Amino acid sequence: MVKILFVCLGNICRSPSGEGVMYHLLRRDGLEDKIYCDSAGTAGFHSGERADERMRSHAEKRGYQLLSLSRQVELDDFEEFDYIMAMDSSNYRDLVSICPKKEYIPKVKEFIKYTDFKEAGVPDPYYDGEDGFEYVLDIIEQGCENLLKEAKSKLNE
Ligand code: 4NP
Repeated sequence: MVKILFVCLGNICRSPSGEGVMYHLLRRDGLEDKIYCDSAGTAGFHSGERADERMRSHAEKRGYQLLSLSRQVELDDFEEFDYIMAMDSSNYRDLVSICPKKEYIPKVKEFIKYTDFKEAGVPDPYYDGEDGFEYVLDIIEQGCENLLKEAKSKLNE
């Protein structure tokens, strides 16, 4: 089993989208029992909440259901997951700063590097207009396809 955790700040926009898009791809490829995905936030201020309604509605139009409830990253996640995908560079820095063991740091990866978008990270859409949510999904769709290819190759190792 390969386990992937998507992490953003609030766990209500970008990382739930990563989880929802990846889960959709896992179902498409019949891999739900081989690859597991989840999401979390570096901050806990939206804990227990469903994904942002705007994010859910844009995702749903593309066929993705966002079912997650927000939770904060826990130290055990660093042991549990193989891929800890930071949605932006500040999420990356926060994750590295709380990582409980040096050996787990290589699991923390910048999601944007799995895409060819010329951005420093997946832009936070929270204070943006509708276009921001579509742009987040464009980036996430491409990054998830590339990440899935890598995770599939890990299954055969
Ligand atoms: P996310 O977006 O990190 O993609 O879930 C945000 C959600 C909420 C806030 C910031 C970013 N906030 O400030 O409440």
